[in-house]
Amino acid sequence: MLRPIFCACLILGLEVFNAASQEYDYVVVGSGPGGGPLAVDLAKAGSSVLLLEAGSDLLDDPIYSGTYQDITSAASAVNNPNSRWDFFVKHSDDPERELQYKHMTWRAKDGFYVGLDPPEGAEQLGIWYPRASTLGGGAVIDDAVLELPPDTTWDYIANITGDNSWAAAEMRKIYEEIENSHYVKNGTEGHGFSGWLETNRGNGSWIDNDLDAATVLRAMLGQLGVPGNMSVGELRNQLNRDINALDPDRDQATGVFGLVSHTDSEGRRFSPANYIRRALADDPDLPLFVEVNSTFTDIAWDPLWSGGPPAVMGINYVVGPSAYKADPRYDPDRNVTSKFVYIGKELIIAGGAFNSPQILKLSGIGPADELKKHNITLVADVPGVGANLGDIYEGSVVLRTKKSSVGNTGSYSVQLKTSVSENGSDISLWPLPYGFEGYFPGFPGDHEAIAFTIAFALKNPHSSQGTVTLRSADPLDPPEVNFRFFEEGANQDLQGMLEAVNFVGNMKARIANSSGLVPIEELGPCPSSSQACLKNQAYSRHATGSCAIGNTASDPMAVLDSKFRVRGVDRLRVVDASVFPKPPGAFPILPTFMISRKAAKVILESNWK
Ligand SMILES: Cc1cc2nc3c(=O)[nH]c(=O)nc-3n(C[C@H](O)[C@H](O)[C@H](O)COP(=O)(O)OP(=O)(O)OC[C@H]3O[C@@H](n4cnc5c(N)ncnc54)[C@H](O)[C@@H]3O)c2cc1C
Ligand SMILES: *[C@@H]1O[C@H](CO)[C@@H](O)[C@H](O)[C@H]1NC(C)=O
Ligand SMILES: *[C@@H]1O[C@H](CO)[C@@H](O)[C@H](O)[C@H]1NC(C)=O
Ligand SMILES: *[C@@H]1O[C@H](CO)[C@@H](O)[C@H](O)[C@H]1NC(C)=O
Ligand SMILES: *[C@@H]1O[C@H](CO)[C@@H](O)[C@H](O)[C@H]1NC(C)=O
Ligand SMILES: *[C@@H]1O[C@H](CO)[C@@H](O)[C@H](O)[C@H]1NC(C)=O
Ligand SMILES: *[C@@H]1O[C@H](CO)[C@@H](O)[C@H](O)[C@H]1NC(C)=O
Ligand SMILES: *[C@@H]1O[C@H](CO)[C@@H](O)[C@H](O)[C@H]1NC(C)=O
Ligand SMILES: *[C@@H]1O[C@H](CO)[C@@H](O)[C@H](O)[C@H]1NC(C)=O
Ligand SMILES: *[C@@H]1O[C@H](CO)[C@@H](O)[C@H](O)[C@H]1NC(C)=O
Repeated sequence: MLRPIFCACLILGLEVFNAASQEYDYVVVGSGPGGGPLAVDLAKAGSSVLLLEAGSDLLDDPIYSGTYQDITSAASAVNNPNSRWDFFVKHSDDPERELQYKHMTWRAKDGFYVGLDPPEGAEQLGIWYPRASTLGGGAVIDDAVLELPPDTTWDYIANITGDNSWAAAEMRKIYEEIENSHYVKNGTEGHGFSGWLETNRGNGSWIDNDLDAATVLRAMLGQLGVPGNMSVGELRNQLNRDINALDPDRDQATGVFGLVSHTDSEGRRFSPANYIRRALADDPDLPLFVEVNSTFTDIAWDPLWSGGPPAVMGINYVVGPSAYKADPRYDPDRNVTSKFVYIGKELIIAGGAFNSPQILKLSGIGPADELKKHNITLVADVPGVGANLGDIYEGSVVLRTKKSSVGNTGSYSVQLKTSVSENGSDISLWPLPYGFEGYFPGFPGDHEAIAFTIAFALKNPHSSQGTVTLRSADPLDPPEVNFRFFEEGANQDLQGMLEAVNFVGNMKARIANSSGLVPIEELGPCPSSSQACLKNQAYSRHATGSCAIGNTASDPMAVLDSKFRVRGVDRLRVVDASVFPKPPGAFPILPTFMISRKAAKVILESNWK
C-alpha cells in the first residue's frame, strides 16, 4: 500500500512534500448512510478501503449512551455541538418572504437570536438546517424512522436511465439483503433477517396503560372512518401494521402504522457507526481503514492520464477535529495538517446532499461559469452539480390540552391520501410528545414543553429547484444553500399540506369532552385556512438530489449515470442522498442505505484489475 514516489501537492496554498504516500484501492469520503456501509462492503470483498470522516467517533463517548443511543432523545442529539454542523439556508430568493419565517436565525452579540424581532446590529444568518458530522453521519442523530419509498421512486430511475436493476422489485431484494428485522417473524416474505441493518418497532403495548394517548389514537382512527369503540387489542393491531410490508397495495394504503426504526433488538439506535465497529471486531484483518477528524479538500487528477476523460489519482485532506467552518467548535487558530493519499481504483464521494456537490465543484466538476468565478480549474463542465436540490416539506400543528402534560403520545404514523394525490398516500403524519415547529438552534424550545404536536410531511413535493453553490473556493467554507421551496406545483403541494392541518383540526374535534383533555388549544404555527402561512413556515431536513442520477446521454443536467459514475471523468462516483432525481418518499434514510448496497454491488461487478 506504500507508493514510494515524491509528490508535490499544493494544499491550501502550502506546498507539502510527502516522501511516501499511501495508496488504497478505494477511498470513501463520508461515513453516513451512503458512505459508511459501502466502505464496509468493499473492504469485506477484499479491497483496501480508506474511509474518511470529518467528524469524530462518538460510540465510546459516555454521551453516546445517554443521548444518541435513545432515539427519543433525537432533539438533544441534533443540538449537540459534538456532532452538529450548522448550515444556514434560504427557502427562497425573496428576502421579504425569508423574514416571515418564525425561526429565522441571527448572530447577535451574545449568541444566536431566533425570531422575527432581532436586536439592533444582529447579523441575519438564515434558516438553521440540522446536519450531523460524525462517524455514521445523520443516522447518529436522526429520528431513525425507516419507511420504504413508494415504488415509483425506483421505477422512475429505471425508466429514465433504462437500467432495470433499479426497478422497485429489484430494490426490494436489496432491502431484504441488508435488513435484520427484529419486529416481524423470522422468514416473513419481503423482509431480511441476516443483513447488517438492524430494524425494530415498538409492539404497541403502550396503548394498554396510556389512556390519553389512546384517546388521541382513537380520534385519529375516527377521522379515518374507524368506529370509536375499538378494543385495546384492536388498537394494538393497528399499531402493528407494517409500513414496509411486501404488499402490492402498500403505496396506496392509508391509516395507522407502527413506526419502524433503525434500532437493535433492545431498541437502541443502530447506525453505520455500529456496522463499521462490528465489521472491524469480527475481522481484525479487514482492510478497512477509518480516519475520523479528517476533512476532504480536493481531488488530485492524474497528470499522466491520457486517452480518456480526466482520472482521479488521489485526494488531499486535512487532519484535525472541527476543521469545517460549519462545526460550532471551529477555531481559526487551530492548525490542521495536510495529507495526500493515492487511489488505486476509485474515489467515492458520500458527504451528503450539501457537501458532495461542494466537493465536486472544488475539484473542478460543475457548472463552468460558477467554477470560473472562483478561479477553479475546470475539469468537467457538469451543470447539474448542485442543482435539483429537493426536500420534503414538513409542517406541524402544536396543541395544548387541558392537562399540563401529555406524557406519551405513542409511536406511529398515519398515512393519508389527500384530494391532490396523484398516486397513493401523499401525507405521513405522526404525534410528538412536545411542541415542535421545525428546526432552529436549541429547538424544540422550552416554552412548548407543555404541548404536543402532530407533525406531517408531504411525500412527493413537485419542486426540486434548490441549489448548492460555492461561497468561496475554500473547501472549509460551507456552501450557500437555497431550496427555492414551492417554485413548481405550489398550489397542489400547499393544498395537500392544508388537508393535513385540517385532518388534525377534525381529529381534535372528535376528542370527547369527558376525556379530561378538552379544551384543546391550537398553538400554531398556522391557522387552518392559511396556505400563505404554510408556505412561509414549512421546514425541512431531508435534502436530496444535488448530484442526481439521470440519463447522461440525453439529459445535460444528469450528474451520475445509473451506476453512480460522475459524467465526464473517470474513477469517481457519488453514493449518498444526493443521487436521487426526485425525493425518495418522506424518509430518505432507508433509500440511502439501499443505494449504498446497490453501489457496492455495481462497483464490485465493474471488474477492476
Ligand atoms: C434532525 C434530523 C432528523 C432526521 N430524521 C430522519 C428520519 O427519521 N428518517 C429518515 O429517513 N431520515 C431522517 N433524516 C435524514 C437523514 O439523516 C439523511 O437523509 C441521511 O443521513 C443522509 O445520508 P448521507 O449519507 O447522504 O449523508 P450524511 O448522513 O449527511 O453523512 C455525510 C457524512 O459525510 C461527512 N462529510 C461531509 N463532508 C465531508 C468532507 N469534506 N470530508 C470528510 N467527511 C465529510 C459528514 O461529516 C457526515 O458524517 C433526518 C435528518 C435530520 C437532520
Ligand atoms: C417511462 O415512462 C413513460 C411515461 O411516463 C413511458 O411512456 C415510457 O415507456 C417509460 N419508459 C420505460 C423504459 O419504461
Ligand atoms: C432468522 O433466520 C435465519 C435463517 O434461519 C438466521 O440465519 C437468522 O439468524 C435469523 N435471524 C434472527 C434475527 O433471528
Ligand atoms: C412489548 O414491549 C414491552 C417493552 O417495550 C415488553 O415489556 C412487553 O413484554 C412486550 N409485549 C409483547 C406482547 O411482546
Ligand atoms: C362498534 O360499533 C359499531 C357500530 O357503530 C358496531 O357495529 C360494532 O359491533 C361495535 N364494536 C364493538 C367491539 O363494540
Ligand atoms: C477526534 O476529535 C475529537 C475532538 O473533537 C477527539 O476527542 C478525538 O479523540 C479525536 N479522534 C481521533 C482518532 O483523533
Ligand atoms: C499554527 O501554526 C502557526 C504557523 O506554523 C503557528 O505560528 C501557530 O502558533 C500555530 N497555532 C497553534 C494554535 O498551534
Ligand atoms: C481570480 O483570479 C483573478 C486573476 O488572477 C483575480 O483578479 C481574481 O480576484 C480571482 N478571483 C477569486 C475569487 O479569487
Ligand atoms: C401508481 O403507482 C403504481 C404502483 O404503486 C403504479 O403501478 C402505477 O403505474 C402508478 N400510476 C401512475 C399514474 O403513476
Ligand atoms: C364538547 O362540548 C361542546 C360544547 O359543550 C360541544 O359543542 C362539542 O360537540 C362536544 N364535543 C364532543 C366531541 O362531544
